[in-house]
Amino acid sequence: MRHAWTSASLLSRIAVYVLFICAIPAASAQNAAPVSGAEVYQKRCATCHDQTSSQALSRDMLQKMSAARILRTLDFGLMMGVAYPMKRDEREAVASFLGTKGGDAPPPASTFCSAGIRPMSGPATESWSGWSPSSLNTRYQPAEQAGLTMGQVRHLKLKWALGFPGDVTAFAAPTVVNGTLFVGSAGGAVQALDAKTGCLHWMFQANGPVRAALLPVRNGSLYSLVFGDLTGWVYSLDAKTGKQLWKRRVEEHEAARLTGSPVAQNGVVFVPAASWEESRSVDPQYPCCTFRGSLTALRVSDGSVVWKSYMVDPPKKTGSNSAGALQWGPSGAPVWSAPTIDAKRGLLYVTTGDNYSSPATTTSDAVMALDMKTGRIVWSQQVTANDAYTSACRSKGANCPPENGPDYDFGSSALLVHSPSGREILVAGQKSGVVYALDPDKKGKILWQTRVGKGGLNGGVQWGMASDEQKVYAAVSDVSGVMNTAGPVGGATFDPAQGGGLTALHLEDGEKAWFAPSHPCDPPRPGCSPGQSAALSLIPGVVFSGSLDGHMRAFATEDGQVVWDFDTAKEYATVNGVQAKGGSLDGAGPVIVGGMIFVNSGYPRNGGMPGNVLLAFAPED
Ligand code: HEC
Repeated sequence: MRHAWTSASLLSRIAVYVLFICAIPAASAQNAAPVSGAEVYQKRCATCHDQTSSQALSRDMLQKMSAARILRTLDFGLMMGVAYPMKRDEREAVASFLGTKGGDAPPPASTFCSAGIRPMSGPATESWSGWSPSSLNTRYQPAEQAGLTMGQVRHLKLKWALGFPGDVTAFAAPTVVNGTLFVGSAGGAVQALDAKTGCLHWMFQANGPVRAALLPVRNGSLYSLVFGDLTGWVYSLDAKTGKQLWKRRVEEHEAARLTGSPVAQNGVVFVPAASWEESRSVDPQYPCCTFRGSLTALRVSDGSVVWKSYMVDPPKKTGSNSAGALQWGPSGAPVWSAPTIDAKRGLLYVTTGDNYSSPATTTSDAVMALDMKTGRIVWSQQVTANDAYTSACRSKGANCPPENGPDYDFGSSALLVHSPSGREILVAGQKSGVVYALDPDKKGKILWQTRVGKGGLNGGVQWGMASDEQKVYAAVSDVSGVMNTAGPVGGATFDPAQGGGLTALHLEDGEKAWFAPSHPCDPPRPGCSPGQSAALSLIPGVVFSGSLDGHMRAFATEDGQVVWDFDTAKEYATVNGVQAKGGSLDGAGPVIVGGMIFVNSGYPRNGGMPGNVLLAFAPED
């Protein structure tokens, strides 16, 4: 058997974590006392799970599940709504208190590829490597690599489906290299699959959920597959075998999450860091806030740090909140998305989110340029000043800073493009619903700005735009409705007619070329919204946009007409025999390569429809 089914036990994870607690800077080490799983259970779970009358599983049932499975349920499963304010050590303590030891069962032998199908043995034209086919982050796949024409897009049919066992979210960004598809999952399973058939080459179990794209990087005679997880770990695997080459944490803060995909240049990989701290702050006793957005440069060869740059200065004590918890600032300015490489200028561009606490800084909600060699911040162009916000602001909680939002993060990467007149520009879309064009030669001076949506907490441009160097395409989320973050997932009531919409802007001046309105949910159903939060993907003539209503739609870049529409929110027979269904499309956009398109479906996090399936489409023969 060639597979590397490698499972880190929960206990060893906790042990490693304890070592790291010692390394946390003073500012975030206020709660170093060991956490009791029994106490966490009483405080956070017993009200529902000790009641035999409730629809929740009884405590006895929970005790039959593996600790790894329970942890996954808290991190990205049915209980994530309950777990938002819970810290890493609390999650791990309650999971090991309740659950059985040991990991998940390995995948059945029948799912593995036959000996004749080897990883990465397909043609080089069958590649979409990392978050975007190129590190300019345009999410544009040229014709030769796409292998799909607009005529063929009209005849796309489902070729195979793969289920993620025990998951309710399928949000990872797939990567395809030479015919092999690499994909993470909410359960932390990283898989290498044959793109044509979905058979399994190998599987690797990461410590936490993996949603960022896996990045294949040449490393001597090997290909290293570098990626981060949602608990702050970065891994390098041998892409052909799945064997771990190295692993390290890039961020000591317990709330770190690595959502943005890494990029690489000349043997160095750049890893952005964001966090959960914004939602931890719902707890009035949480000492808000100490996490700082960062970018870390690591040597691909051994994972050693070349440099690390923070987006804000180290936090200092600033007082206490109305509940008596200490307050710290500055904080925040997380980097949610993949950095953009500007090889010509020797720069990396990152976009930042809001601050979490006062004082607000000039580097939040900003596009920033860093020196690729040293990490020095060369310039920063802020588009929204004084934006400090936490989830506590939704209910006027003690940890809401006086700035109180507006929570206009940049959640997606800046695109480095040539406009039709040959001028190089950076284009960035914000949760405010505004798209900005910046001049990379004038410290990010704003060249034009155009509003494409209403914007808001879950509004505006979320996961990413796309550009073919004629136009830039921007879809907006703009979901509206009541979000239920307290109970199990799926409790949101969205307005079935509000949200979404796709706008094409001329790159030269930001003028609107066309607007394709969204499609109201028909019929309206729980978790359904017309919002278009997912990242867009582009091939010559066609732009793809997934919606929270579960539909993947393809639009003609000429005029915005819909040329293909597939409703992913249904049940599937899967190649790995796992019961699977689709749900809302959000997060990573589709990947188009070698005449196929790959779509992950299921995203209950902000109240959308759950799902656990990866779908592969190809034109009908
Ligand atoms: C507000 C009530 C409520 C609270 C609080 C709550 N749960 Fe649940 N939990 C539920 C319900 C309801 C279900 C069943 C959901 C379903 O099957 O649709 C469930 C299901 C689960 C499952 C099974 C999930 C699966 O994937 O099948 C686990 C594990 C779990 N809860 C763990 C916990 C833990 C650990 C805590 C405390 C940290 C917790 N829950 C707190 C209501 C709650």
